[in-house]
Amino acid sequence: MSYVSRANPAKLELHHHLEGAAPPAFIRGLAKEKHMDISGIFDAQGAYKYVDFWDFLKVYEAATSTLQSPEDYARLTRAVLEESAKSGVIYCETFLSPDFCGGRDVGAWREYLLAMREAAEAAERDMGITLRGIVTAIRHFGPDKARQTAVCAAETVGDFIVGFGLAGDETSGAPADFKWSFDCAREAGLHLTAHAGEWGGPESVRAVLADLGVSRVGHGVRAIEDLALVDQLAEQGVVLEVCPGSNVALGVYPSLRKHPIGELYRRGVKVTISTDDPPFFHTTMQAEYAGLHAAFDWDDGVFAEITQTALDAAFCDADTKTKLRKRLETAHD
Ligand code: ADE
Ligand code: ZN
Repeated sequence: MSYVSRANPAKLELHHHLEGAAPPAFIRGLAKEKHMDISGIFDAQGAYKYVDFWDFLKVYEAATSTLQSPEDYARLTRAVLEESAKSGVIYCETFLSPDFCGGRDVGAWREYLLAMREAAEAAERDMGITLRGIVTAIRHFGPDKARQTAVCAAETVGDFIVGFGLAGDETSGAPADFKWSFDCAREAGLHLTAHAGEWGGPESVRAVLADLGVSRVGHGVRAIEDLALVDQLAEQGVVLEVCPGSNVALGVYPSLRKHPIGELYRRGVKVTISTDDPPFFHTTMQAEYAGLHAAFDWDDGVFAEITQTALDAAFCDADTKTKLRKRLETAHD
């Protein structure tokens, strides 16, 4: 079955963390099965509770501690893709971290990956949503662990694992500390992205471009503080994985109307739209579209253009892109 319709157009999402997309009820269920008490990370309504970005990272890691086996990750993959498909998402690239899946051991990582992949293939058959993985190092875990993560990525590059990235605390360390990991991933044939310009300013965006050679930037929105950098992004066709709801929920910007995605788009930067960690930020892809329509009066034409940008910038192979292009063309026939 497919949830895509004229009112719920087909969407491509490029910036999405698998654990961060875990519904809170799903994590509570796992905690109960394992007799773990993580009740402190939920509010009275059962939603995730955090006070700022750094607290969010702690809550994220506490929720993730309930995910302990390939089977848990298979169940998570299914639950998450069901939610994404309801929003009309037909293609999703999700960040996967060997840190959480087998402690960066390549053999264990392969087992987790197989479980996630099988769940993703079943979801594709049942709901018409295609998943690809971006292996992601976590910045505040440091460069040594990132190197082991890059080796996991390089060993499993293929039609499912298509990219390598860097997430976590942008204020910790410098992009150059992760150069070895990004070189390793690039040499293995992986596409590259890194979180920057969320908690760091324009210099942080410049650094991931110059030191890590990424083709996409996760968030990147604080580039707006330096219009020369904005021009550079537009000229070089650097794609921003913008997550407006995440930025508002975490307090990077006070409201969607004050969010720079509108100006970045007007200035010719290739922007795309994603949810980041949807239940943490009380968002969905459908809600992101509705919010941007309300804030910037974006119409179907703008969203179609942004969907095309996401398709062009997706890290999957050419065959997958051809199939997605056909689905976009025929989605409403
Ligand atoms: N990990 C999950 N969500 C993140 C975000 N918004 N920024 C950095 N790391 C993350
Ligand atoms: Zn993110």
